[in-house]
Amino acid sequence: MRCDILTLFPDMVRPVLGQSMLKRAQEKGLLEVRVRNLRDYTLDKHQVADDAPYGGGAGMVMKAEPIFRAVDALRAEHGTELRLLMPSPQGRPLTQRFAEELRDEPRPLVFLCGHYEGIDERVRLVLQPEEVSIGDYVLTGGELPALVLIDAAVRLIPGVLGDPESALAESFTDSLLDFPQYTRPSDVQGWAVPEVLLSGNHEAVRRWRRKEALRNTFLKRPDLLRDRVLNDEDRRLLDEILHERTNVCEARGGGRLS
Ligand SMILES: C[S@@+](CC[C@H](N)C(=O)[O-])C[C@H]1O[C@@H](n2cnc3c(N)ncnc32)[C@H](O)[C@@H]1O
Repeated sequence: MRCDILTLFPDMVRPVLGQSMLKRAQEKGLLEVRVRNLRDYTLDKHQVADDAPYGGGAGMVMKAEPIFRAVDALRAEHGTELRLLMPSPQGRPLTQRFAEELRDEPRPLVFLCGHYEGIDERVRLVLQPEEVSIGDYVLTGGELPALVLIDAAVRLIPGVLGDPESALAESFTDSLLDFPQYTRPSDVQGWAVPEVLLSGNHEAVRRWRRKEALRNTFLKRPDLLRDRVLNDEDRRLLDEILHERTNVCEARGGGRLS
């Protein structure tokens, strides 16, 4: 996956790219990401990349021309079409499906990070980038959303996660939330690990995990189940959940030791 991040605040993104999975993906050659300072594409001595909004009002607006120049330079450098993405609270909501789509994108991904009051509208009109939102709230800039998008996509590339099974079992991959996880010790402050997880019975563990994934989804995000076509096993497990007590801890089979 090839990415370019166009930003006025390169230092907001560089440290994150040097950590954890994003770092590992670059070391393995599975992610190539370059951070470009938009000020490098200004022509004036003071490298001004923003200005006051026409019509008055608070804040500053990012100028269009440095962005046009940066995108032209990237087109020339890559020698190919680019997929332009513009983080925006007005954009298409980010989902796991969208992350998969970005992972599979053969074109270089270019993130146009807004800041202040946003970007001169002519950037949207001329370049027609895809606007992408990471949620119905407003952040200071597009840098964190760009990192969120890259992280969500990169961890789906085979070879990035230590265990390829991890991404397959996670929330949303199958339109379900993930099942609860436990690690050593088996007793924490009197709370025991569900016995089935210690049983060594792979089929029983698989069934328990499936059921708990369904329970989590039913309790926390019932909307995900609404249009879902359930197979026989899922229907049976959901029936069991509905007939059990709703106390989540007890129903998970954890429970406090006396
Ligand atoms: C302060 S915001 C501008 C918000 C803009 N005036 C509006 O109300 O639509 C500055 C930048 O942060 C980014 N941003 C803020 N919230 C976001 C969100 N929920 N998803 C994606 N990007 C966001 C965008 O790049 C935006 O240009």
